[in-house]
Amino acid sequence: MNGRLDNFTIVIFGAESDLALRKLFPSIYQLFRWSHLPEAWRVIGVGRHGHTHGEFRKAVRERMMEYSPESIDDQAKFDDFFRRLYYVNTDFDDVEGYHALYNEIMDSRGEPEVCSNLLFYLSTPPSLAPVIIRNLVAANLGGLELTCPGWRKIVVEKPYGHDLHSARELNRILEEAFEERQIYRIDHYLGKEPVQNIMVFRFSNGMFEPLWNRQYIAQVQITIAEEFGIRGRGAYYEEAGLLRDIIQNHGLQLLASIAMEPPVDLGAEAIRDEKTKVLRSVRHFDPESLNRTLVLGQYAGYHEEKGVKSGSTVETYAALRFNIDNWRWSGVPFYMKAGKSLARTVTEIVITFRCPPQNFYGEHGSASCTPNQIILGIQPDETVAIRFGAKRPGEMMLTDPVYMKFDYRDSFAGEGLTPYHRLLLDAVEGNQMNFIRRDSVEHSWAIIDSIRDAAAGAVPEPYPVHSWGPESAGLIYEFPPG
Ligand code: BG6
Repeated sequence: MNGRLDNFTIVIFGAESDLALRKLFPSIYQLFRWSHLPEAWRVIGVGRHGHTHGEFRKAVRERMMEYSPESIDDQAKFDDFFRRLYYVNTDFDDVEGYHALYNEIMDSRGEPEVCSNLLFYLSTPPSLAPVIIRNLVAANLGGLELTCPGWRKIVVEKPYGHDLHSARELNRILEEAFEERQIYRIDHYLGKEPVQNIMVFRFSNGMFEPLWNRQYIAQVQITIAEEFGIRGRGAYYEEAGLLRDIIQNHGLQLLASIAMEPPVDLGAEAIRDEKTKVLRSVRHFDPESLNRTLVLGQYAGYHEEKGVKSGSTVETYAALRFNIDNWRWSGVPFYMKAGKSLARTVTEIVITFRCPPQNFYGEHGSASCTPNQIILGIQPDETVAIRFGAKRPGEMMLTDPVYMKFDYRDSFAGEGLTPYHRLLLDAVEGNQMNFIRRDSVEHSWAIIDSIRDAAAGAVPEPYPVHSWGPESAGLIYEFPPG
């Protein structure tokens, strides 16, 4: 990969945020170690910790050694990595600090072109994005004001706004400073190997796509379960809740990948067009059908978490039934359940097929059908399994469900790229395929807003830690699948 990339500077706002220290710096270091980065690159951290360059390097080094010691297997490379880190100390709302940033950027320190290719990375709470963007423009660092040849791009982390209104406002502010082709709204789920495999599985295999519709598929279930709680992020969770934290982005992006039409080509716009069409077709929630489409839950003990208000009605679990009103999916329920402090950490998508019209070989000789399923394991298992019925050995004609399974780790050896490796490279290379376009983000928020409006005032049902969520979640599922 070396040689393909332009020389560049990444400017990270919130350079000592958890995300930057746990994900961004280790990913940049590994890309460097694997020689994926160009000859000249550097990172400028922006924050309010009052560091000199040296103190900043030391702080990042200490945290990287604490969080990912296993990745530091080449001391010389590790030392070289830190020589490329710089720091600008400023409050995000102090325009003077952005002039200092400008000077730091333009001081190329003898490296070719580093100042001309700029990737701004907002690893900050969403409320800070507008002021940062406005100050970038004030210091001539906006995307529309190139002072030397090269490119400028901006990566914006989730949560992307708080609701449709704030997301639109953020889009408006961003677009005053950058063109859409320069804006990278990141959802790290789209960098996961098995998520990227969904399109490959669907569109490179002739045998699945003809069945991928309402005629053959009875239902789709998407599960995003985590056995841990909110991990000290009480203040954030009180603002966000699970619908905004997980469903608006990761959940709806998985749904869009499963439900999209084949794109006209593999360009970023063609793929994002199809995903956007799905999100436009998702039926909005209404209070009348809410008891058949939504269950919200909150794990026992959530109130005792740091930063959580007593009596909080924030949800840490949701089970939803989505309907997609288009020709391919009309009448096929897309169930989604996601939650914190559940029995197990697992993300998977189960596609359940309709039963044969006459069922001669029901399970244990009965007329009931064990439907075929395709199970896409996203994590921790990165697998694709196909479930079908097989004759149990013996004189009786009894059918048992069996599985054919593909496992990434068995079939492909070697060190893969993590989502942040891949998405950082994509952003530097200018590939927007796995970033979310403005219209998609707004359609997703419109869906979430409809859920929140329909459920306004609802109190989430309590559920025990390490369970599978509130029992009533089962009521929204239709069994047997139709
Ligand atoms: C983040 C959410 O976007 O994704 C977290 O804010 C969640 O609440 C995390 O735990 C899950 O990501 P991953 O890749 O660890 O499954």
